[in-house]
Amino acid sequence: MYIIMVASECAPVSKVGGLADVIYGLSRELEVRGNEVEIILPKYDCMRYDHIFGLELAYQDLWVPWGANAIHCSVWFGFVNGRKCFFIDPHSDENFFNRDNYYGYPDDAIRFAFFSKATLEFMLKINKRPDIIHCHDWQTGLVPVLLFEMYKPQGMHHPRVCYTVHNFRYQGITGTNILSLTHLNQLDYYQHNDRLQDNVHFTALNFMKGGIVYSNFVTTVSPKHAWEAQHTEQGQGLGETLHIHKDKFGGILNGLDYEVWNPEIDPLIPHHYTIETLDNKYGNKKALRDRLLLREEYKPLIAYVGRLDVQKGVHLIQNALFYSLQNGAQFVLLGSSPEESINKEFLRIKQELNDNEDCHLEIGFNEELAHLIYAGADMIIMPSMYEPCGLAQMIALRYGTVPIVRAVGGLIDTIFDRDHSSKAITAHNGYVFQEADHIALNSAMSRAIGLWYGYPNEFRKLVIQGMQYNYSWQQSGQHYFNIYELIRNK
Ligand code: GLC
Repeated sequence: MYIIMVASECAPVSKVGGLADVIYGLSRELEVRGNEVEIILPKYDCMRYDHIFGLELAYQDLWVPWGANAIHCSVWFGFVNGRKCFFIDPHSDENFFNRDNYYGYPDDAIRFAFFSKATLEFMLKINKRPDIIHCHDWQTGLVPVLLFEMYKPQGMHHPRVCYTVHNFRYQGITGTNILSLTHLNQLDYYQHNDRLQDNVHFTALNFMKGGIVYSNFVTTVSPKHAWEAQHTEQGQGLGETLHIHKDKFGGILNGLDYEVWNPEIDPLIPHHYTIETLDNKYGNKKALRDRLLLREEYKPLIAYVGRLDVQKGVHLIQNALFYSLQNGAQFVLLGSSPEESINKEFLRIKQELNDNEDCHLEIGFNEELAHLIYAGADMIIMPSMYEPCGLAQMIALRYGTVPIVRAVGGLIDTIFDRDHSSKAITAHNGYVFQEADHIALNSAMSRAIGLWYGYPNEFRKLVIQGMQYNYSWQQSGQHYFNIYELIRNK
């Protein structure tokens, strides 16, 4: 099958969050299965060009109709760790992608509406007719709208669209001027509840809603989150739309890139290990302590790695830190927030605990340190408010680090509580708590710390059971392939 991914991120060239890992990992898996896969991305100034191999001009003069004019674009081609990527490079005064960051500008909706339109214009002009166009998140929600309303009449009858929502919190809600810019026009037609009209702000348009309405199939990144999005406030206003389209909507758990995340060969950790050589893991614990100047004592080490934003439960992360220190554990944090006030708060805590030899906060991001933390820690915490899928818990399992997670989204689908899960005892792999408060979190942490001190052999069993799980792209790749076949044959 010939599949084109259209997205605003791809690891490692342009990565803000988990979306980037999914684009890379899923594309790789589909290619390994013998499909032809290409990825179309914006050509950002701020990308990691050192990760692109053989960058060359693929199409010189692409004129994309836009408002009263057309914008001149170049399209580039290059390999990103073996994946075939095209990069759209518009030349206009707006400088859509020549900025310091990927997102966060007042014209974001316009920037990615342009990207969506340019992608289709490129496919039209160069005669690309993929079997499947797979779009992701709000940035590419207009792709199926433009395809079926505007490009199909121009001859693009063949492609079917799969649309994946990674985060319902960001939907691309915007003004109606986008209609004249993209040439969709027809205000009354699009600003309609059956199409792009936002379900809350009736005068606004919603890209994600467009993606859901127009695509042949819609997914989100775990089965549990598919349910939550439809039946709880986690759909962020789109629950009703999902319900209307429920026959073409489902959840598929993300996979983890088992090549990158493999403690047996990971070049970023000093001591390699498997289930059979688990004791080597503790060499990493020592290396981590040495590096962060933590004292060497008989104590479990608990970690948080990831973005520090409200979604991730910042207040509970702080709570976990202090609870660990008060209850005989060490704590390590690696992450930062897009919000300066949150970073400041953590920097303040860092200063307050400066002399504490049981704790280290690293405000920022560092790939190498992340690997060492996953390998060296005994447990990680993920007290998310909501979590469509989550990757850290899967990485932790792979590295024999016990996850302590809140019962939401993908965390429910992947982590099974040692004391309360109804699964077979041999399938338990972590700790799960329900409520988003410190009482619930503390009780899960006290069970985990209690097992570590009181029943080391049982703790080791839990570690091994976690390592036995397989959350690679293998199954997820098959699920997506089945969806592609389903919508191709309809
Ligand atoms: C978003 C979600 C996260 C998910 C990731 C990749 O970042 O918040 O839960 O793992 O997308 O799908």
